[in-house]
Amino acid sequence: MKAGSSSPAKIILFGEHFVVNGNSAIAMTIDLPTIVIAEYTEVENITIASKNLNLEVTFTMNGRIQRSKGVNAEHRLHPIFKMIRSLLHNDKQGLKISIDSRVPIGMGLGSSAAIAVAIISSLATLTGRTMQKDEIFQAAYSLEKQIHGRPSGIDQATVTYGGMIIYRNGKVETRYSELPKLPRIIIGNTGKRRSTGEYVGKVTQLRTDHPQEYARLSNEAQKVAGRAIFALKEGKDQELGALMNENQTLLERIGVSAPSLDNLIVAARTAGALGAKLTGGGGGGCMIALANDTNAATVAQAIQNAGGEVISSQFAKDGVKPIEWNE
Ligand code: MEV
Repeated sequence: MKAGSSSPAKIILFGEHFVVNGNSAIAMTIDLPTIVIAEYTEVENITIASKNLNLEVTFTMNGRIQRSKGVNAEHRLHPIFKMIRSLLHNDKQGLKISIDSRVPIGMGLGSSAAIAVAIISSLATLTGRTMQKDEIFQAAYSLEKQIHGRPSGIDQATVTYGGMIIYRNGKVETRYSELPKLPRIIIGNTGKRRSTGEYVGKVTQLRTDHPQEYARLSNEAQKVAGRAIFALKEGKDQELGALMNENQTLLERIGVSAPSLDNLIVAARTAGALGAKLTGGGGGGCMIALANDTNAATVAQAIQNAGGEVISSQFAKDGVKPIEWNE
């Protein structure tokens, strides 16, 4: 017997990092799928296979390696083993989890959240449980808390529920399954992998060392997010772009941008983007630029010319969902 789930990826339009300490943030899902297939096996062990990374490791139930294929496979798949182990209640049943993801890893597009929610959802189906989205989100959020100290939960919420969400204080305040009319969003990847946890840690340090300065920036960021929600509803594209630029300045002030990101952001703005900023944890990873139909191609080309990879994807209205089998 086997069960599968598919999860989208995510981008954050406004409010990353500040959301960790209770600000509002706006995020949406994009159609880069992560597909997980869970199946029972006869031997009592856990095999995890990543198709796109060409890795496969079989762990005993205690986490010892039985078989391994691919460069550094044990190290890379062990966090996923730990996650699966903490979700399993029946030790006697062997399991194979196959992951096929189109989301670049460690680039701020929610790859680990997408894997976690797709695993949680497929294991639920495999074990005959119906899990509501709220339960999937809570399970993924608590797993993420074990991995990186202080996540806000926005990545897990976005890929679980799908669409565009306004998120604050561990909750989805508003969800749009149809997009308010948006200009074009171009995603540029710096190709520089980094850890979100590390950058969340840096911001926590800044907040501890300079509480007043942080509070001031955070207030500003909250105003920007509030105005962005309004600009989105009203379809005010120019204003939305200007707000993205303001948001980027605040992210620079808290030290989470990086030369690789600044380079693509400047290129996009110079080519006429309405606005541009980093998306996700920063330090590398991806940026987004807002453009209109007439200059979207020019902005994309400028990002590429500056050394970025343009990730082509569309808004996805659905969050994680089970895959139906035709067999
Ligand atoms: C990461 O996609 C978003 C951050 O705000 C971290 C978090 O909210 O957990 C940087």
